[in-house]
Amino acid sequence: MRIYKAKDYADMSRKAANVLSAQIIMKPDCVLGLATGSSPIGIYDQLIEWYKKGDLDFSEVTTVNLDEYKGLTKENDQSYYYFMHDHLFSHVNIDVNKTYLPDGMAENADAECERYDKLIQSLGGVDLQLLGMGHNGHIGFNEPGEAFDKGTHCVALQPSTIEANKRFFASADDVPKFAYTMGIKTIMQAKKILIVVSGADKAETVKKAFFGPITPEVPASILQLHNNVVLVADEAALSKVDL
Ligand code: GLP
Repeated sequence: MRIYKAKDYADMSRKAANVLSAQIIMKPDCVLGLATGSSPIGIYDQLIEWYKKGDLDFSEVTTVNLDEYKGLTKENDQSYYYFMHDHLFSHVNIDVNKTYLPDGMAENADAECERYDKLIQSLGGVDLQLLGMGHNGHIGFNEPGEAFDKGTHCVALQPSTIEANKRFFASADDVPKFAYTMGIKTIMQAKKILIVVSGADKAETVKKAFFGPITPEVPASILQLHNNVVLVADEAALSKVDL
């Protein structure tokens, strides 16, 4: 695992955006695995800036997102579909017909998970998967204790995740209780992985995930076994490890 220490959130975002833009430049028709949450927002802002300067072209890029809340429509401003359009897709020249997320409104959850895994396979897999990390070490919505061998599946969100995400909703009761997520197996099949972590509140989890034992109790720890991972974290997030 290659680790880049960034000064702060802005520096982390720029460093990580450099990795993504290198991928797009080296392979213009690449498949990017994208993530939501507050961690990647600065990266998307930077990519938009470079696109506007004429340095990046998204016209051949395909994207598959990690996860989506179950039960939220695309129009709901808390759906990850809405987030991706709001923070990236509507600002660059990506072909929206080549941007994919699990369908939160699908009637049959099992069929939706199968469809999503088949879709990723049919695209030839993910070239570069971007990840954030939850406070409990979750990636996508793979909560602690989940088996490492799962493809896309529907998960019950943990109370701590509902608590962390309630800031985006009117109240904790409005946070969906279930979500679709690529499984750890799906994530580990990506050719390259870029994970970004910011803030002192995740420092302990960074230590456990990347410097501790590999265990389903800390889902991100599995990334230690992937042969092409870049971690970009700011000083605060790396404050509990010696580098
Ligand atoms: C959510 C998302 C994850 C994300 C995590 C951390 O649970 N499903 O993909 O990594 O939040 O979010 P943040 O970056 O806001 O801390």
